[in-house]
Amino acid sequence: MSEMKRYSTMMVLLHWVLAIFILGAIFVGAFILDEMESTNPQKITLLQMHMLVGVSILLLTVFRLIVRYRTQQPLPASSHNKLFDMIAKGMHHLLYLLTLLTALAGVALAYTADLSAIVFKHIGTLPKDFEDYLAHEVHGIFAQLLLLTILLHVAAALYHQFILKDGLLSRMALHKD
Ligand code: HEM
Ligand code: HEM
Repeated sequence: MSEMKRYSTMMVLLHWVLAIFILGAIFVGAFILDEMESTNPQKITLLQMHMLVGVSILLLTVFRLIVRYRTQQPLPASSHNKLFDMIAKGMHHLLYLLTLLTALAGVALAYTADLSAIVFKHIGTLPKDFEDYLAHEVHGIFAQLLLLTILLHVAAALYHQFILKDGLLSRMALHKD
Protein backbone atom coordinates (compact mmCIF):
# COMPACT_ATOMS: atom_id res chain seq x y z
CA MET A 1 0.00 0.00 0.00
CA SER A 2 1.42 3.42 -0.98
CA GLU A 3 2.24 5.86 1.80
CA MET A 4 -0.36 8.63 2.40
CA LYS A 5 0.84 12.17 3.07
CA ARG A 6 -2.47 13.59 4.25
CA TYR A 7 -5.96 12.73 5.44
CA SER A 8 -8.64 11.65 2.90
CA THR A 9 -11.33 14.09 1.74
CA MET A 10 -13.89 12.30 3.93
CA MET A 11 -11.70 12.57 7.06
CA VAL A 12 -10.95 16.25 6.32
CA LEU A 13 -14.63 17.13 5.81
CA LEU A 14 -15.61 15.27 8.99
CA HIS A 15 -12.83 17.02 10.96
CA TRP A 16 -13.91 20.55 9.99
CA VAL A 17 -17.68 19.98 10.14
CA LEU A 18 -17.25 18.48 13.61
CA ALA A 19 -14.88 21.29 14.68
CA ILE A 20 -17.54 23.90 13.75
CA PHE A 21 -20.41 21.93 15.35
CA ILE A 22 -18.48 21.27 18.59
CA LEU A 23 -17.20 24.83 19.04
CA GLY A 24 -20.72 26.11 18.17
CA ALA A 25 -22.37 23.76 20.72
CA ILE A 26 -19.94 24.86 23.45
CA PHE A 27 -20.51 28.55 22.66
CA VAL A 28 -24.32 28.28 22.55
CA GLY A 29 -24.43 26.03 25.66
CA ALA A 30 -22.10 28.03 27.91
CA PHE A 31 -22.74 31.61 26.81
CA ILE A 32 -26.39 31.64 25.73
CA LEU A 33 -28.42 28.68 27.06
CA ASP A 34 -26.88 28.62 30.52
CA GLU A 35 -27.65 32.33 31.01
CA MET A 36 -31.21 32.16 29.65
CA GLU A 37 -34.28 31.93 31.93
CA SER A 38 -36.59 28.95 31.26
CA THR A 39 -39.48 31.39 30.82
CA ASN A 40 -37.78 33.04 27.81
CA PRO A 41 -39.81 31.96 24.73
CA GLN A 42 -36.63 31.67 22.64
CA LYS A 43 -35.17 29.04 24.96
CA ILE A 44 -37.12 26.14 23.37
CA THR A 45 -35.91 27.06 19.86
CA LEU A 46 -32.30 27.31 21.01
CA LEU A 47 -32.57 24.02 22.91
CA GLN A 48 -33.98 22.37 19.75
CA MET A 49 -30.95 23.58 17.79
CA HIS A 50 -28.45 22.64 20.53
CA MET A 51 -29.92 19.15 20.92
CA LEU A 52 -30.06 18.47 17.17
CA VAL A 53 -26.49 19.70 16.68
CA GLY A 54 -25.41 17.72 19.78
CA VAL A 55 -26.94 14.45 18.55
CA SER A 56 -25.40 15.06 15.08
CA ILE A 57 -22.01 15.46 16.79
CA LEU A 58 -22.53 12.11 18.52
CA LEU A 59 -23.50 10.28 15.31
CA LEU A 60 -20.82 11.96 13.15
CA THR A 61 -18.10 11.16 15.71
CA VAL A 62 -19.08 7.47 15.74
CA PHE A 63 -19.10 7.54 11.91
CA ARG A 64 -15.68 9.27 11.90
CA LEU A 65 -14.22 6.60 14.20
CA ILE A 66 -15.55 3.86 11.88
CA VAL A 67 -14.04 5.62 8.81
CA ARG A 68 -10.78 6.16 10.71
CA TYR A 69 -10.31 2.48 11.58
CA ARG A 70 -11.65 1.06 8.32
CA THR A 71 -9.60 3.20 5.90
CA GLN A 72 -5.91 3.95 5.53
CA GLN A 73 -4.60 6.98 7.46
CA PRO A 74 -1.37 8.94 6.91
CA LEU A 75 1.56 7.98 9.14
CA PRO A 76 1.43 10.01 12.37
CA ALA A 77 3.13 13.44 12.08
CA SER A 78 6.39 13.49 14.05
CA SER A 79 7.75 16.26 16.27
CA HIS A 80 11.06 14.27 16.49
CA ASN A 81 10.43 13.81 20.20
CA LYS A 82 9.12 10.40 21.31
CA LEU A 83 7.33 11.76 24.39
CA PHE A 84 5.54 14.51 22.40
CA ASP A 85 4.50 11.98 19.75
CA MET A 86 2.97 9.76 22.44
CA ILE A 87 1.18 12.75 23.97
CA ALA A 88 -0.19 13.72 20.53
CA LYS A 89 -1.64 10.24 20.05
CA GLY A 90 -3.16 10.31 23.54
CA MET A 91 -4.62 13.78 22.92
CA HIS A 92 -6.34 12.64 19.71
CA HIS A 93 -7.91 9.72 21.59
CA LEU A 94 -8.92 12.09 24.38
CA LEU A 95 -10.62 14.42 21.88
CA TYR A 96 -12.75 11.55 20.57
CA LEU A 97 -13.50 10.27 24.10
CA LEU A 98 -14.47 13.66 25.58
CA THR A 99 -16.64 14.46 22.54
CA LEU A 100 -18.55 11.19 23.00
CA LEU A 101 -18.85 11.61 26.80
CA THR A 102 -20.07 15.22 26.52
CA ALA A 103 -22.71 14.29 23.95
CA LEU A 104 -23.83 11.20 25.93
CA ALA A 105 -24.18 13.28 29.12
CA GLY A 106 -26.33 15.72 27.07
CA VAL A 107 -28.54 12.82 25.96
CA ALA A 108 -28.78 11.65 29.61
CA LEU A 109 -29.81 15.16 30.66
CA ALA A 110 -32.45 15.32 27.92
CA TYR A 111 -33.77 11.93 29.02
CA THR A 112 -33.91 12.65 32.78
CA ALA A 113 -35.52 16.09 32.24
CA ASP A 114 -37.96 14.64 29.65
CA LEU A 115 -36.80 17.21 27.10
CA SER A 116 -37.78 15.38 23.92
CA ALA A 117 -41.50 15.82 24.81
CA ILE A 118 -41.08 19.41 26.08
CA VAL A 119 -38.77 20.68 23.35
CA PHE A 120 -39.99 18.83 20.25
CA LYS A 121 -43.66 18.05 21.03
CA HIS A 122 -44.43 21.05 23.24
CA ILE A 123 -45.87 18.79 25.96
CA GLY A 124 -45.18 20.09 29.51
CA THR A 125 -42.90 22.96 30.60
CA LEU A 126 -39.16 23.33 31.05
CA PRO A 127 -37.77 22.87 34.58
CA LYS A 128 -37.09 26.21 36.33
CA ASP A 129 -33.39 25.54 35.82
CA PHE A 130 -31.20 22.52 35.08
CA GLU A 131 -28.90 22.94 38.09
CA ASP A 132 -30.72 20.21 40.07
CA TYR A 133 -29.86 17.56 37.47
CA LEU A 134 -26.65 15.57 38.00
CA ALA A 135 -26.41 15.00 34.24
CA HIS A 136 -26.31 18.80 33.76
CA GLU A 137 -23.27 19.10 36.00
CA VAL A 138 -21.53 16.15 34.31
CA HIS A 139 -22.38 17.58 30.85
CA GLY A 140 -20.91 20.96 31.83
CA ILE A 141 -17.70 19.44 33.29
CA PHE A 142 -17.06 17.24 30.23
CA ALA A 143 -17.72 20.23 27.94
CA GLN A 144 -15.12 22.28 29.85
CA LEU A 145 -12.55 19.47 29.68
CA LEU A 146 -13.29 19.13 25.94
CA LEU A 147 -12.77 22.86 25.37
CA LEU A 148 -9.46 22.74 27.27
CA THR A 149 -8.26 19.76 25.20
CA ILE A 150 -9.31 21.53 21.97
CA LEU A 151 -7.34 24.64 22.96
CA LEU A 152 -4.22 22.51 23.56
CA HIS A 153 -4.87 20.74 20.23
CA VAL A 154 -5.10 24.05 18.34
CA ALA A 155 -1.96 25.34 20.10
CA ALA A 156 -0.11 22.15 19.08
CA ALA A 157 -1.31 22.51 15.46
CA LEU A 158 -0.09 26.14 15.37
CA TYR A 159 3.24 25.11 16.95
CA HIS A 160 3.75 22.55 14.15
CA GLN A 161 2.69 24.98 11.46
CA PHE A 162 4.58 28.11 12.49
CA ILE A 163 7.47 26.99 14.75
CA LEU A 164 8.39 23.56 13.37
CA LYS A 165 7.22 24.77 9.91
CA ASP A 166 6.38 21.21 8.84
CA GLY A 167 3.17 22.14 6.95
CA LEU A 168 1.00 20.08 9.33
CA LEU A 169 -2.20 21.96 8.49
CA SER A 170 -2.01 20.84 4.85
CA ARG A 171 -2.53 17.24 6.13
CA MET A 172 -5.99 18.37 7.25
CA ALA A 173 -6.76 20.55 4.17
CA LEU A 174 -8.83 19.77 1.07
CA HIS A 175 -6.78 19.09 -2.08
CA LYS A 176 -7.92 18.94 -5.69
CA ASP A 177 -6.04 15.72 -6.60
C1 HEM B 1 -10.42 24.79 15.18
C2 HEM B 1 -9.15 24.56 15.07
C3 HEM B 1 -8.51 23.23 14.76
C4 HEM B 1 -7.34 23.08 14.07
C5 HEM B 1 -6.45 24.18 13.51
C6 HEM B 1 -7.10 21.63 13.95
C7 HEM B 1 -6.05 21.06 13.27
C8 HEM B 1 -5.83 19.71 13.13
C9 HEM B 1 -4.79 19.10 12.31
C10 HEM B 1 -3.76 19.88 11.49
C11 HEM B 1 -4.87 17.76 12.46
C12 HEM B 1 -3.99 16.71 11.79
C13 HEM B 1 -2.92 16.28 12.74
C14 HEM B 1 -2.08 15.21 12.10
O1 HEM B 1 -1.71 15.37 10.93
O2 HEM B 1 -1.79 14.19 12.76
C15 HEM B 1 -5.96 17.48 13.36
C16 HEM B 1 -6.36 16.22 13.76
C17 HEM B 1 -7.38 15.97 14.65
N1 HEM B 1 -8.26 16.90 15.17
FE1 HEM B 1 -8.20 18.91 14.88
N2 HEM B 1 -8.10 20.96 14.60
C18 HEM B 1 -8.99 21.89 15.10
C19 HEM B 1 -10.14 21.63 15.81
C20 HEM B 1 -10.49 20.39 16.26
C21 HEM B 1 -11.67 20.15 17.07
C22 HEM B 1 -12.70 21.20 17.54
C23 HEM B 1 -11.70 18.83 17.31
C24 HEM B 1 -12.79 18.20 18.12
C25 HEM B 1 -12.80 17.22 18.86
C26 HEM B 1 -10.54 18.20 16.66
C27 HEM B 1 -10.19 16.84 16.68
C28 HEM B 1 -9.14 16.26 15.99
C29 HEM B 1 -8.81 14.85 16.04
C30 HEM B 1 -9.54 13.78 16.85
C31 HEM B 1 -7.71 14.66 15.19
C32 HEM B 1 -6.99 13.35 14.91
C33 HEM B 1 -7.45 12.79 13.61
C34 HEM B 1 -7.18 11.31 13.58
O3 HEM B 1 -6.04 10.91 13.27
O4 HEM B 1 -8.11 10.57 13.89
N3 HEM B 1 -9.83 19.19 16.02
N4 HEM B 1 -6.53 18.69 13.75
C1 HEM C 1 -20.50 17.25 22.08
C2 HEM C 1 -21.72 17.78 22.04
C3 HEM C 1 -22.19 18.85 23.00
C4 HEM C 1 -21.51 19.92 23.53
C5 HEM C 1 -20.06 20.34 23.24
C6 HEM C 1 -22.42 20.61 24.44
C7 HEM C 1 -22.09 21.73 25.19
C8 HEM C 1 -22.89 22.28 26.18
C9 HEM C 1 -22.48 23.33 27.11
C10 HEM C 1 -21.10 23.99 27.16
C11 HEM C 1 -23.54 23.58 27.93
C12 HEM C 1 -23.59 24.58 29.10
C13 HEM C 1 -23.32 23.80 30.38
C14 HEM C 1 -23.09 24.68 31.59
O1 HEM C 1 -22.85 25.88 31.45
O2 HEM C 1 -23.10 24.14 32.71
C15 HEM C 1 -24.64 22.73 27.51
C16 HEM C 1 -25.89 22.72 28.09
C17 HEM C 1 -26.90 21.87 27.72
N1 HEM C 1 -26.84 20.89 26.75
FE1 HEM C 1 -25.26 20.42 25.59
N2 HEM C 1 -23.62 19.95 24.44
C18 HEM C 1 -23.53 18.86 23.58
C19 HEM C 1 -24.52 17.93 23.31
C20 HEM C 1 -25.78 17.94 23.85
C21 HEM C 1 -26.82 16.97 23.55
C22 HEM C 1 -26.65 15.77 22.63
C23 HEM C 1 -27.93 17.33 24.28
C24 HEM C 1 -29.27 16.68 24.35
C25 HEM C 1 -29.77 15.87 23.44
C26 HEM C 1 -27.58 18.52 25.03
C27 HEM C 1 -28.43 19.20 25.89
C28 HEM C 1 -28.08 20.25 26.69
C29 HEM C 1 -28.97 20.87 27.67
C30 HEM C 1 -30.43 20.49 27.95
C31 HEM C 1 -28.23 21.89 28.31
C32 HEM C 1 -28.71 22.80 29.46
C33 HEM C 1 -29.07 24.14 28.93
C34 HEM C 1 -29.27 25.13 30.09
O3 HEM C 1 -28.44 25.19 30.99
O4 HEM C 1 -30.24 25.84 30.04
N3 HEM C 1 -26.26 18.87 24.74
N4 HEM C 1 -24.21 21.94 26.46
